[in-house]
Amino acid sequence: DHAASRDLYQLMEEASHYYQQQLRQHPDKTKVEKYLAYRDLSSQVIEQFGIGYAPDGWDGLLSRYRQNTEAQTKLLTAGMVIANDNGKQYDRFRDRLMFPIRDRRGRVIGFGGRVLGDGTPKYLNSPETPIFHKGNELYGLYELKQKYRDPQRVLVVEGYMDVVALAQFGVDYAVASLGTSTTAEQFQLMLRSAKQVVCCYDGDNAGKDAAWRALETALPLLKPGDLVKFVFLPQGEDPDSMVRQIGKEAFEELIDKADDLPSFLFATLTEKFGGDKSSLAKQAIALIEKIQDAVLQNLLLENLSHKLGMNSAEDLKKKLGVNVKPQTQPLAQQGIKGRGTPLRLAI
Ligand code: UTP
Ligand code: MN
Ligand code: MN
Ligand code: MN
Ligand code: MN
Repeated sequence: DHAASRDLYQLMEEASHYYQQQLRQHPDKTKVEKYLAYRDLSSQVIEQFGIGYAPDGWDGLLSRYRQNTEAQTKLLTAGMVIANDNGKQYDRFRDRLMFPIRDRRGRVIGFGGRVLGDGTPKYLNSPETPIFHKGNELYGLYELKQKYRDPQRVLVVEGYMDVVALAQFGVDYAVASLGTSTTAEQFQLMLRSAKQVVCCYDGDNAGKDAAWRALETALPLLKPGDLVKFVFLPQGEDPDSMVRQIGKEAFEELIDKADDLPSFLFATLTEKFGGDKSSLAKQAIALIEKIQDAVLQNLLLENLSHKLGMNSAEDLKKKLGVNVKPQTQPLAQQGIKGRGTPLRLAI
């Protein structure tokens, strides 16, 4: 309910201030400063993103509400405090670098906390709460919108550090999907903010898988004019390490040269099926069927037919035994799906 949520937002804001204050004042702050220096984060981005420090100890945050049982209950609801089996309460975030996650209106709704070094988990995140639904939020979107009312493009990356490092180097239009898969809600959010969304996940197998899942997630949402693109980083790199290595200009060249969605789709299927064009076409069509927009769907079919050495989407449909008619509805409704006979393409 509204009043209760309002209190949660206020509590989260207070927590964020507390962590920022601890970064400036805590007796252990040299250890944190060392880590920040090691990560080479500028005081400017630390300030801009409100990065803070949750001190070691069980009740750094909790003890600030010692006399206030109502506030303590709200800390539990907000996921900032955990109760053990005996009902004993303690701070969720301890001895971690704290990244406040804001909603589109700038309200703090959750945190990501990074261990200062090699401990596990590397990042501890706020749980789902009445005000924090991870799959609906994008880390850095508020900060981006503060800079650009109407951004041309949005870069979506995996992590907090990627967003912050990119901003530090002047690539100040990145957001993080708070995990490796980017959800449909997150794509909607980005496509509402900019016509071009560029996925730039880590240069590892998880990142490659994430890109493919992103393609499948984005397909049904696409409207004419929307562009979803993909940047693939060298093995072992992520946007943070990459931008530090090559700088803003070279990084933006990578973004400019990003694969568009059809290229990534066909390249991946070609890699998978090699010369087996019939299987390739089958898989490609299964994906193209997910597109809701008929114009875009036909464009991609057209594209596919050329890649398969045919003249047009009509040729392709003929080869696949689909009724040739001007397309007014998604292929799925035209009966391509569920064909009993295997596709045989004479190509
Ligand atoms: P990464 O492991 O790639 O983190 O996970 P990173 O951002 O490169 O971290 P650094 O550079 O080592 O500090 C990407 C994202 O996945 C989530 C976080 O959102 C992280 O930023 N993640 C990762 C977790 O939630 N928990 C984890 O333990 C690890
Ligand atoms: Mn909600
Ligand atoms: Mn990774
Ligand atoms: Mn990473
Ligand atoms: Mn990293």
